Amino acid sequence: MTIPLVIPLPGNEVLAGHLCAFGNVELGKLEMRAFPDQETYLRFPESPSDRNVVLVDTLADPNGKILPLLFAARTARELGARRVGLLAPYLGYMRQDMRFHPGEAVTSRHFASLISADFDWLITIDPHLHRYRALEEIYTIPARALHAAPLLAAWIGRNVVRPFLIGPDAESEQWVSGIAKACGADYCVLRKERLGDRDVRIAAEGLRLPDETQPIMVDDVISSGRTMEEAVRVAAGRGRKPLALAVHGIFAENADARIMAAGAIRLVTANTIPHSSNEIDIAPLLVPELAAMF
Ligand code: R5P
Repeated sequence: MTIPLVIPLPGNEVLAGHLCAFGNVELGKLEMRAFPDQETYLRFPESPSDRNVVLVDTLADPNGKILPLLFAARTARELGARRVGLLAPYLGYMRQDMRFHPGEAVTSRHFASLISADFDWLITIDPHLHRYRALEEIYTIPARALHAAPLLAAWIGRNVVRPFLIGPDAESEQWVSGIAKACGADYCVLRKERLGDRDVRIAAEGLRLPDETQPIMVDDVISSGRTMEEAVRVAAGRGRKPLALAVHGIFAENADARIMAAGAIRLVTANTIPHSSNEIDIAPLLVPELAAMF
């Protein structure tokens, strides 16, 4: 059987290259450009006929990505691909998981139905599962959610002496506790109130800062960055500058600069979304899962 063809959408070339370096997969190509009116031109320069195809596209900032991605999946299938999978290290459109106010769109469901219609399977990392317990509640294809916690714990073990982990909100306890256990550290969790997209309050009361430890703020995603920024500010206000660590770094509206200005000593993320803070490679986590999907 021929080995799977891993094809990066624009911006995903580095991760696709790592996958090919680690695993028994072949790097493929997709030609893509915009016509003058911004419609998309796509071409598979090598035939995907009779191949298992993995399209790699991290879905932060997803609106401009979704149409080219669906066109690519449909075209691969038309050209004879056996199975077409989506590797989306970051999966967008997970936050609107219910109709909070009358008339709102539950975009998580619509996004899931678009992807499910054109792909045979999905692999992602630490999706924002809050009210949904599993991706299969909205995705009708096999959908695997992998966890980067062991990679974060290993990074801490290699790079930080006497770490003390802090979760910025109650939701973060699920991964902060696991990472703390895996790297033999203690942790605490803060209390957060979100008043709007860009307005977050974090109470300082729950904050413990044991002597001679290095505080590390840990979250699954830094999106607007307000959560991490406020959490860092609370710790720095006590005279203890924390390291800011997250799986996914979206860093909307210069969030990275704001977090550093709030008092972080360093910003570290996994390479689910390309950024200068990427220090944790997810390729070793993905390779066995890709093999399992075929
Ligand atoms: C909360 O539910 C999540 O774990 C993150 O804390 C949150 O999504 C971060 O969002 P932002 O960066 O926009 O504050």
